[in-house]
Amino acid sequence: MSIFDHPDFDNHENITFLRDRMTGLSAIIAVHSTALGPAAGGTRFWQYASASEGITDALRLSRAMSLKNAMAGIPHGGGKAVILKPEGEFNRAELFTAYGRGLNRTGGSYYTAEDVGVSPADMKAVRTQTAFVAGLEEGEAASGDPSPITADDVFRCLKHAVFCHLKEARLDNLTVSIQGLGSVGYSLAEHLHAAGAKLIVADIDPKILKRAAHDFGATIVSPDEIHAVRADVFAPCALGGAVNAQTISSVNAKIICGAANNQLADEDMGAALLKRGILYCPDYVVNGGGIINVASELSGHYDPKWVDGKLSGLVSTLSEIITQSRKNSAPTNMIADQMALARIAAAR
Ligand code: NAI
Repeated sequence: MSIFDHPDFDNHENITFLRDRMTGLSAIIAVHSTALGPAAGGTRFWQYASASEGITDALRLSRAMSLKNAMAGIPHGGGKAVILKPEGEFNRAELFTAYGRGLNRTGGSYYTAEDVGVSPADMKAVRTQTAFVAGLEEGEAASGDPSPITADDVFRCLKHAVFCHLKEARLDNLTVSIQGLGSVGYSLAEHLHAAGAKLIVADIDPKILKRAAHDFGATIVSPDEIHAVRADVFAPCALGGAVNAQTISSVNAKIICGAANNQLADEDMGAALLKRGILYCPDYVVNGGGIINVASELSGHYDPKWVDGKLSGLVSTLSEIITQSRKNSAPTNMIADQMALARIAAAR
């Protein structure tokens, strides 16, 4: 099948395939749109079952970045990169250094930062070869790991969703289930615990679960059942597709609000959630905090006040989506898509 016939190909402007035999690097950089400015989005480092799964992820995630960046109101289009994690031994620093060299081939049409499986140390290795990178811990405008800001943003949106949908101004009587306690999920758990919420959590890493039980008194369940536990809010914070044909009927929360990208396996899931009275907070609206933080660094001058203003803007955008969804009995994901696509079209 040609890439142009791929079901997730959406007129992406550029797709770069990188291969470096010495280090074992295999990467796909997908630039979906530069209508609003050079594309920005993280790099994912993951062991995919096949290279074609990685390509699908890069195509879908880069499109979502176009929508996310439009909603965040930042001067960037959408792009995303996926590095296929090699099997067996490899030298991590050398692999990310080779990736940095490869990024130069995109000629500044794509700026990267951390995503799943990537740390600030990896981005430091990338920076030795290219300027097209942010989420750094050193340098004049350095913004560091975007994950805590992403978690802050999800937390603000979650509180707003609880207020709109459950008429609760506080979280201390509520239960939140979290799928995935990585950089964002754990930080979100800290916010929720501090606000008094009860936590039910799942991860594939037993060490993180032990820590969460100790730090938050969290109840642990298996990754297969987290979507189905009874909770006020379900927060998907692992990989995409948490809401799919197999899981949707057993989702047992009133609100879905989490950090993961592409939470809905397909767009029809939004209508099905609406029918069940479950408020779905569009992922690329509520998880835009990280890219806003990165955009501030990319502007050359990191400004926490600007970041804070943009985060508040995302809560207002979510509010508007919820209002329109109620008014028109339309799924929130469709409303969000319409708003984001209109912003991109206006820029063109
Ligand atoms: P991470 O790699 O630090 O954490 C992911 C966690 O999910 C890990 O603890 C992993 O063990 C766990 N996990 C993987 N498969 C699982 C499964 N089937 N069930 C339960 N847990 C599972 O990644 P990070 O940075 O926390 O990102 C989480 C999600 O948020 C991703 O979808 C990412 O694309 C999205 N996101 C992250 C941003 C950031 O600033 N880091 C920004 C916007 C979105």
